[in-house]
Amino acid sequence: MAWLSEHNLVSAISEAGGFGVLASGNMPPAKLRQEIQATRARTANPFGVNLITLNPELPELLRVAIEERVSHCVLAGGLPDQPTIDALKQANIKVILFAPSLALAKRLLKRGADALIIEGHEAGGHVGPVSTSVLVQEILPHLEEVPVFAAGGIANGKMVAALVAMGAAGCQLGTRFVVAHECIAHANFKNAFLRAQSRDAQVTAQFDSVLPVIPVRALVNKGTQNFNSLQLRLIQEVKAGTKEKKAAQLELEHFWVGALKRAAIDGDVENGSVMAGQSVGLVNSAQSVGAIMEELTSLLR
Ligand SMILES: Cc1cc2nc3c(=O)[nH]c(=O)nc-3n(C[C@H](O)[C@H](O)[C@H](O)COP(=O)(O)O)c2cc1C
Repeated sequence: MAWLSEHNLVSAISEAGGFGVLASGNMPPAKLRQEIQATRARTANPFGVNLITLNPELPELLRVAIEERVSHCVLAGGLPDQPTIDALKQANIKVILFAPSLALAKRLLKRGADALIIEGHEAGGHVGPVSTSVLVQEILPHLEEVPVFAAGGIANGKMVAALVAMGAAGCQLGTRFVVAHECIAHANFKNAFLRAQSRDAQVTAQFDSVLPVIPVRALVNKGTQNFNSLQLRLIQEVKAGTKEKKAAQLELEHFWVGALKRAAIDGDVENGSVMAGQSVGLVNSAQSVGAIMEELTSLLR
């Protein structure tokens, strides 16, 4: 989780027996190096790094991950190109990719994926169109070559146990960890999570196919309206030929990075983006990472 999955939360998860993943978001490369080192200073257990393929600084961030001898990289935000995957594999870094369908999952295996994540529409942040319950039935029975992790809408140990029984190697959670004591999210952001119902976490709309947007699930607020206004302005600019489609899409992505920081770190939960999954309605109390991990894994032992 951009801004939130930093060294405190990640090291706490890895220390508690999970696999923490540092979110590089739009961090400058030097900051990613600091975060990797700060995480290592707090845990000797394995953790991964999440890199966004759309990030213009991806080559420099990859270089940092390789120089720091990170063990696992999750590539998010679109289909990664082959040179990116190859660079990581040559450096002996395990590559974990998001698979939105069985057909694409098979292509990602051919491209060299060492593990896959299937993330359903219920999740917080950028989401695909298909629910977790359908994706796990579509993909898990047909992919035995690599570990497959399920994500989206998972909030308790019974769900984790059910998905593992269906063949998942494990589960990836975001929303539930936002309210963890070790998460640096602003108190306003955590309180918004504790108050929200599942129905409050809605996906954004796309208004015109001239500007395709990846839907984002967040609690509805003025920030949602700001995104809609920006999208409408950019559609007009793309139609008028004053802005390239790619530049407009990048501007929308920059909006999310800034809006998430505004809410999650600065505490402006009215105008910023409160990215949250539908499982937000099941998150009712702040707990330590250790207690959350204990509850999530209690049925696996
Ligand atoms: C606030 C927030 C920020 C997120 N940022 C990222 C990100 O930077 N990269 C990424 O791959 N996924 C990101 N996600 C998705 C999570 O990694 C995870 O897959 C998702 O939260 C799982 O679904 P859940 O929210 O229902 O637990 C984010 C999710 C949230 C709630």
